[in-house]
Amino acid sequence: MIYLDNAATSWPKPEKVYLAADEALRRGGNPGRSGHKLSIAAGRSVEETRMLLARLFAIPRPEAIAFTLNTTDALNLALKGILKEGDHVVTSSMEHNSVARPLEALKSSGVEVTKVATSPLSGVDIQDVRASIKENTKLMVFTHVSNVTGTINPISDIGELCRERGILLLVDAAQSAGVIPIDVMEMDIDLLAFPGHKSLLGPAGTGGLYIRDGLVLNPIREGGTGSFSELLTQPEKIPDRYESGTLNAPGIAGLGAGVRFLLEQGVGTLREKESALANRLLEGISQISGITVFGPPAGRLRTGVVSLVVDGMEPTQTAAILDDAFDIAVRAGLHCAPDTHRMLGTLETGGTVRFSIGAFNTEEEIDLCLEALRSIAEEGGLGEVRE
Ligand code: ALA
Repeated sequence: MIYLDNAATSWPKPEKVYLAADEALRRGGNPGRSGHKLSIAAGRSVEETRMLLARLFAIPRPEAIAFTLNTTDALNLALKGILKEGDHVVTSSMEHNSVARPLEALKSSGVEVTKVATSPLSGVDIQDVRASIKENTKLMVFTHVSNVTGTINPISDIGELCRERGILLLVDAAQSAGVIPIDVMEMDIDLLAFPGHKSLLGPAGTGGLYIRDGLVLNPIREGGTGSFSELLTQPEKIPDRYESGTLNAPGIAGLGAGVRFLLEQGVGTLREKESALANRLLEGISQISGITVFGPPAGRLRTGVVSLVVDGMEPTQTAAILDDAFDIAVRAGLHCAPDTHRMLGTLETGGTVRFSIGAFNTEEEIDLCLEALRSIAEEGGLGEVRE
């Protein structure tokens, strides 16, 4: 199989990720709960992953990272832990539902939301972001990279603006963590929500939220933390405050191995390889008639997420032919980002077919993918269409 659905979840994982998760599951122990060897070993492994993540994102203190279930969970904690009635939040028209839906829900609690218009080629315009600031603007929340088009937002410029104006910046790094080098201090990011199972190459059910020093959020869930057990109130100590309930220790151990792999390879090096493959794909597609591509063309600032439609064909049908006849795995539809499709004009037409390149894709795979697309666009595909 040629796997080009890395924006949904990366596959395969580095061998050491499977081994680390397996080892942690076999070893056992609930981190931070008991005093025996297994519990201590599990705790050490969790803290090691926290330390590796801190190194990856240039976070000064590992405790500033709280483990979460996934990016959605991290974003919910950040948004609901900060925003209150009367606050204004600025966001964009290319957000995933993991941002758009919590914000829609917060509107009924009296939170005011402004969505800044977005260009599929270059993301938000910093002048539009500046113009949207009000007296009560508490927070800005932007995706770093569109999960539909691979468009990159100017996060450093937004960070600088937020710092000047005393506004908090929350970044949805679902499609950028492990893809683009991130330095939270240099980019003035106050809160960074990231997944473990995408380009950090860990297992599903892992993710995290970086919370800048001194920023205290209302936890969205309370419960056992293995610390301050005499208190009926949630501890103030971080990261315990945000980590109620047993952590996914095997998943977090696997995530640690994924981050170690990235630190060894270098995110910048992997980015160069992915960019070259994305350009090869885009240049190849531009030679095929009957395909419309959305987002930045070859050679422009973008990631390896490429959305297209074969003219006159439902995206789900194209994806089914790719899967059935060519053994190529992609995602079709709205990709949980309806606002982005409204902007692209594909909301009412079934969305797009999305190819997302990962750390292990090769030039040969991209070339086979181009042959398949040529066959589908010019001859309607070779295989049976799945019912
Ligand atoms: N949010 C993931 C995607 O875009 C699942 O596919």
